[in-house]
Amino acid sequence: MEKISVIGSGTMGNGIAHTFAQFGFQVNLIDVNPNALDQALQTITKNLDRQVSKGTLTDDQKTATLKNILTFTSISEGVKEADLVVEAATENIDLKLKIFKEIDQSAPNEAILASNTSSISITQIASVTQRGDKVIGMHFMNPVPVMKLVEVIRGYQTSDETTQLIMSLSESLQKVPVEVNDYPGFVANRILMPMINEAIYTLFEGIAGVYEIDTVMKLGMAHPMGPLQLADFIGLDVCLAILKVLHDGFGNPKYAPCPLLVNMVAAGRKGIKTGEGFYKYT
Ligand code: CAA
Repeated sequence: MEKISVIGSGTMGNGIAHTFAQFGFQVNLIDVNPNALDQALQTITKNLDRQVSKGTLTDDQKTATLKNILTFTSISEGVKEADLVVEAATENIDLKLKIFKEIDQSAPNEAILASNTSSISITQIASVTQRGDKVIGMHFMNPVPVMKLVEVIRGYQTSDETTQLIMSLSESLQKVPVEVNDYPGFVANRILMPMINEAIYTLFEGIAGVYEIDTVMKLGMAHPMGPLQLADFIGLDVCLAILKVLHDGFGNPKYAPCPLLVNMVAAGRKGIKTGEGFYKYT
């Protein structure tokens, strides 16, 4: 595989484009919004500068990485020569189904189509394409250039060959791929989101404050971020959407989102991206 098309230039999309480009792949970064593409290139440059200043990347490697990225505003143009398409658009099922129909029509027949979805069913996404055996989940973690895990999700029809290709490709990015099956939340979010939800309940019920809850988990369990800080980092709207997928998918009340989370999202307090969540960001 040489040519990778990444759809969506937000936090995950630009991190995925950055990582593939850093490891020598030709990347077409696609977003309908040209301003978002400019913003993504600025973010990638800033993150590459950070790597250069830490001494983990040379100036020449930074230049080569940026040269490997082209930008497009049209999906059909951006995917027409792709070996692999990684979709990292907004976490909205109707949008993803529409995008996958379009990619399926425009990408070469042998191209693999991956989604970076954090909780939407890969099997359902695959069902709108004519190549269910070549559709797979490739779930990167934020920040993509730093986090080692790729959760590789096999849909109902995903072939062994597609899975093997994506496992080895992830290793060529110096990531550690882990194969899981396609059920609500996969593994990462099935375990992470109930922890975050429980932390929000702990706050909601007045057991402890934000600082106390996060400090217990950071210093007591050696987590790099406390669960409330992590929720702000992921986005409270994203956490709520994933909890709803778990709740609907398993029909088990243990996944019901905490009313405080529901209220905060309704009030527009979505975490870092809106400047305020459990913490304030200036
Ligand atoms: N691009 C490139 N490098 C980056 C970066 C980025 N966007 N962000 C941080 N880094 C690098 C830094 O340069 C630094 O590198 P060195 O180790 O070489 O010095 C390293 O990452 C650590 O960064 P900092 O020193 O600035 O800050 P930190 O020590 O506080 O670490 C963190 C930041 C890596 C984000 C850390 O706090 C962390 O691991 N947090 C938890 C992240 C996590 O759980 N992510 C998963 C979220 S869930 C998800 O993504 C999936 C989902 O479906 C919801």
